[in-house]
Amino acid sequence: MKILVINGPNLNLLGEREPTIYGDESLKAINDELYEAAQELTFFQSNSEGSIIDSIHAARLDYAGIVLNAGAYTHYSYAIHDAINAIKIPVIEVHLSNISSRDEFRKKSVIAPACAGSIAGFGKYSYMLAIQALDYLFEAKK
Ligand code: DQA
Repeated sequence: MKILVINGPNLNLLGEREPTIYGDESLKAINDELYEAAQELTFFQSNSEGSIIDSIHAARLDYAGIVLNAGAYTHYSYAIHDAINAIKIPVIEVHLSNISSRDEFRKKSVIAPACAGSIAGFGKYSYMLAIQALDYLFEAKK
């Protein structure tokens, strides 16, 4: 089962960016660790809303599911919400930090209602758990 892992804005700076919140590992180090656990993964990162939407659209043809950390777009991108609703494959929303325990504006995810489920607050393990959640969904469908 091929899975696309999409990371949105500012996540390219993981390791440097607010390490007390997001940890001191780079996105590459996290992706490498995920890849060791599951070789069916492909990784994409973009700081642009349109590119994230294009990658969601393209994934519908080739992938069984998507793991998406939309960064701050989570909180206001109705366009990403619509892109998720436009495709049939499941999308799991992930966040390194617990968005419910931070700033007021982070408490709302406008993409959550379009996603199969959401995982937040477990650092890099949020991605691992999201991959397990997709595996569970694929198994349940068999
Ligand atoms: C984030 C949480 C968002 O609120 C923030 O804008 C990010 C990272 C997370 O992974 O915890 O860029 O998605």
